Amino acid sequence: MELKRSDGSVIPVEMYKTRMVQKLNLIPAKERLKAMKEAGYNTFLLRTRDVFLDMLTDSGVNAMSDNQFAEFMRTDDAYSGSETFYDFAKAIDDVLGYKYVMNVHQGRAAEHLLVKVFAKPGDTIPTNYHFTTTKAHIEIREAVCLEIYTSEALKTKSTVQFKGNMDIKKLKETIKKEGAAKIPFVRMEATTNLIGGQPFSMANFKAVREVCTKHNIPLVLDGSLLTENAYFIWKREKGYEDKTVAEIVREMCALPDIYYMSARKNTCVRGGCIATNNLKLFEEIQPWLPVYEGFFTYGGMSMREIGAMTAGLREMTDPDMAGCSIEQIKYFVAKLVKAGIPAVTPAGGLGCHLDATKFCPHIPQSQYIAGALTAALYIVSGVRAMERGTISMDRDKNGNDVFADVELTRIALPRRVYSISHIEYIIERLKWLHKNRELIGGLKFASEPPVLRFFLGKLTARNNWGAKLCEAFEKDHGTKA
Ligand code: F0G
Repeated sequence: MELKRSDGSVIPVEMYKTRMVQKLNLIPAKERLKAMKEAGYNTFLLRTRDVFLDMLTDSGVNAMSDNQFAEFMRTDDAYSGSETFYDFAKAIDDVLGYKYVMNVHQGRAAEHLLVKVFAKPGDTIPTNYHFTTTKAHIEIREAVCLEIYTSEALKTKSTVQFKGNMDIKKLKETIKKEGAAKIPFVRMEATTNLIGGQPFSMANFKAVREVCTKHNIPLVLDGSLLTENAYFIWKREKGYEDKTVAEIVREMCALPDIYYMSARKNTCVRGGCIATNNLKLFEEIQPWLPVYEGFFTYGGMSMREIGAMTAGLREMTDPDMAGCSIEQIKYFVAKLVKAGIPAVTPAGGLGCHLDATKFCPHIPQSQYIAGALTAALYIVSGVRAMERGTISMDRDKNGNDVFADVELTRIALPRRVYSISHIEYIIERLKWLHKNRELIGGLKFASEPPVLRFFLGKLTARNNWGAKLCEAFEKDHGTKA
């Protein structure tokens, strides 16, 4: 909920209360520098004991509700035929409107199955924007992940409300060029994760549906961030202001042939699912489920998580839930913009995104700007964010870097976990960092895995800039901050 102050400003008010807590720990800057070096300037490789605010991701780290914890105790653990699964299937039908569903252990497992069953080498899969794991699965299959976004999508400073839209004209041209037979499905990602959690409009989604129907191409919706996209439609799209988020979710879910999601975001548990109303498509995928995930009444998830996912599904369309991180991000981004710090606008879902290229114009893209800014933020604050730039892109066949379209530092806002005072803390540290940005330098790889290198790759700071940044920070804040 938003509180309008008498001076006209707005502050998000949390519509939940905290009944269990976890102690936070803030180690001093010098120790943070040591931890960062040991982690190879890769925030994925930090340990929790060294992290103050963990904003690496909003995935699997959200606060579950009391109802969800209650489900942990209530679940039927049967290997097959579990009633917990049938309760879950009913919630999928009630909330999303799908008759057939299977669980998978997380979102990327759904991508693995969909690509394995439907794509062939040489195929093209058009998408409004790629996600790292989706692209990896498509490329392992030797197919092409083709991004078809609008000209506004990559502008980090914008007022366009639906930067996640697909360019319909280009989609039509692609189908004409490739031929429908070479396109196993078109994928729409509800809020495009890698370009700042930007939504698509219902009108655009309907237009994509129309093109797919005309050419008999299945449409797949990645609904990992479904309720955030629905919340944006409610707030931003003409004609939807009087609908509920629940109604918008149903309207969105009626469009694709296949729906899949990571359950780690909107439903606050660790798992995922694939759902559809098309029995033929369902039956093509289902035989592979026990091979890679597990029997169809658990699909690689623990029954407890499936029970909690059922409760999460029923709660996720409550606007207080669907909008809880969106409103915090809006507040966060507005304050940064006011301070002249380049954050992606309009504010999106899942996190506040810094435009690292504008923050550090002195670092060349070949030296991993977003990785450097993400590491610098940790050194000066203990906040763990995530690089979403060139490090998150794998090299091409010749071993060359593939430069990301945008270099972003993503400060994720797990749902119902952090408060406005935490956000104020980050803003203060970012103001200092922005003023001292010349101290941030480039990175180079020390070791690098061949796929999804951002998870395990290690880097070093060129000219030891981390130490100089730490020294300057201590000069202004003392050795204990
Ligand atoms: N699709 C989208 C849009 C995602 O954001 C993610 C994960 C996945 C698929 C894969 O799901 O992690 O359950 O296997 N996003 C996480 C993130 C990792 O940090 O944004 P998963």
